[in-house]
Amino acid sequence: MSEPTIGVFEVEDRSFPPPPAFAGAALANDRALYDEAEIDYEAFWARQARELLTWHKDFDTTLEWELPFAKWFVGGQLNVTENCLDRHVEAGRGDKVAYHWEGEPGDRVTITYAELLTEVKKFANVLKDQGLEKGDRVAIYMPMILELPIAMLACARIGVAHSVIFGGFSADAIVDRCVDAEARLIVTADAGYRRGAAAALKPTVDEALASGAPSVERVIVVNRCDTAPAMVEGRDLWWHDVMANASEDCPAEPMDSEQLLYLLYTSGTTAKPKGIMHTTGGYLAQVAFTHKYTFDIKPETDVYWCAADIGWVTGHSYIVYGPLTNGMTSVMYEGTPDTPGKDRLWDIVERYGVTQLYTAPTAIRMFMKWGAQEPAKHDLSTLRVLGTVGEPINPEAWMWYHEHIGGSSRPIVDTWWQTETGGHMISPLPGVTTTKPGSACHPIPGVFAELVDDAGNKVEVGGGYLTITRPWPSMLRGIWGDPERYRDTYWSTYEGKYFAGDGAKLDSDGYLWLLGRVDDVMNVSGHRISTTEVESALVDHPAVAEAAVVGATDELTGQAIVGYVILRGTHEASDALGNEIREHVGLKLGKIARPKTVIIVPDLPKTRSGKIMRRLLRDVADGRVLGDTTTLADPGVVAEIANRAAENDDD
Ligand code: WTA
Repeated sequence: MSEPTIGVFEVEDRSFPPPPAFAGAALANDRALYDEAEIDYEAFWARQARELLTWHKDFDTTLEWELPFAKWFVGGQLNVTENCLDRHVEAGRGDKVAYHWEGEPGDRVTITYAELLTEVKKFANVLKDQGLEKGDRVAIYMPMILELPIAMLACARIGVAHSVIFGGFSADAIVDRCVDAEARLIVTADAGYRRGAAAALKPTVDEALASGAPSVERVIVVNRCDTAPAMVEGRDLWWHDVMANASEDCPAEPMDSEQLLYLLYTSGTTAKPKGIMHTTGGYLAQVAFTHKYTFDIKPETDVYWCAADIGWVTGHSYIVYGPLTNGMTSVMYEGTPDTPGKDRLWDIVERYGVTQLYTAPTAIRMFMKWGAQEPAKHDLSTLRVLGTVGEPINPEAWMWYHEHIGGSSRPIVDTWWQTETGGHMISPLPGVTTTKPGSACHPIPGVFAELVDDAGNKVEVGGGYLTITRPWPSMLRGIWGDPERYRDTYWSTYEGKYFAGDGAKLDSDGYLWLLGRVDDVMNVSGHRISTTEVESALVDHPAVAEAAVVGATDELTGQAIVGYVILRGTHEASDALGNEIREHVGLKLGKIARPKTVIIVPDLPKTRSGKIMRRLLRDVADGRVLGDTTTLADPGVVAEIANRAAENDDD
């Protein structure tokens, strides 16, 4: 395991207690929830599950734990969409706005809970008409439009598991995920708006299905941008056609608590993405609990906005399932934050009176670069709580967020969690916790974390590896089709503990400081990308013989992907070839995985046992200014690698 490489902070002694007025009105402003969970965490979660969710049938057993396999709320039955929709409508809140949706070009749709429920029932009937049954899987590859949560919820209504594939992924990524999940149907759109233009999606699905994924029988296409994609006779259907005659009557199927709700693929340390499994009762309970208390929601008056993409777990839990379960009014935005201007987000906050904003450190650093004059153009005084997620937040970005977005008076919740954890795990509670800029503070009530050293001994103060010591309701239930990999990846490093893959530091006040991944997973703009996956895509290019990928430190994106490549045979190093290799990775995996820089080298430094010296390569990359498309074939780099390799011969 390597040392954590990002976010190694100086000692930080600023601290921010909850503003008294905020704490006075907060849902939690003392340690009661922590104390309750400390005494009996199963009883604590059982109470949350019963109070926050509506059950068809109450559960008999809170937790069955056969390490590493957990079952929560066993014997209970519920339907996720009843919790997200029906019960709000039945309680007379059908006219309440579920989403204020805003398209990038400026088109707007407001959808109420009653309207959303109708759309979900109709699309659930469409899925049934296409022969989908409880237990099947549907892939969803869509832009940030309302049909995306509608499609997810329609699956949940009838017990079909969805597998959302981020709209920036490539055809190959679609094939891998559809093959692994044996998806029977794909829901997509012709395109979505990004930076003022229609970014095509349907042609990528066509490309995927031309090369593989034989399980896919149908493709349903939303017409978002009028790009008139080719439609394959007998396979492709327009959303508006199938919805036109769909019945509005679709009772919710009661699901067992442990019924699969969704798969979400995430990068691990090997080339094959893992299908993370989330089930129904435990997932919904923890997501509802954390959404409620981390953001101190007041559903009657708040307008909540998580500015993530639903293609990632943050969007699943905190745009769709958490906020809807809690009956919130949310904002949902399709496009990029700088279209048409760099104040787009602040314009949205002002116009809808947003009260909670949830975004990522990489976005905050970008806003810093754009300058404080952009948010200053707008009235942001409605904001009450600011959230961040996805990567360690550097104190400078935290302070900027605090001052320029939060008017120096709003609590910031830095939430640490993972696709695998389903919901927040380590985070302040805004009315309770005194925060420190850059620290995610403490585990939430009901979650138990421990830092350990290489030998697995508990670390009281200082650096170590983050583990979770007890099961939690929204934990992954496994890796789709690979129970052994689940055990090996998460539960075999430290006996009896969940190993998160992150390094962290505990300070003498007991605050946790997350330091980044300690495995071969990079974190670029809050997105997890596997070095191995990028390496395989690099060597897939005909000119590349061997490749090594490292995550170099990057001011804006946290880490940046740098690929070192050795060329095959007679290929000549050139910027043009380097760029072609970069683009090849973009095509194979999607643009987010395209290396910032490709460095062409005659050789890769290896230890005597033949392992590539990655730390050395990272140091070399860290030591130079890397442009956005640089491809270096620079003799200086080669000499530096050789010199350092000689110094480190016994690394
Ligand atoms: C990192 C995103 C520091 C971490 C919800 C984790 C963070 C990985 C934080 C999971 C945070 C997420 N502070 N690091 N607040 N939040 N991470 O699966 O390395 O896309 O293991 O889930 O992001 O990324 P994932």
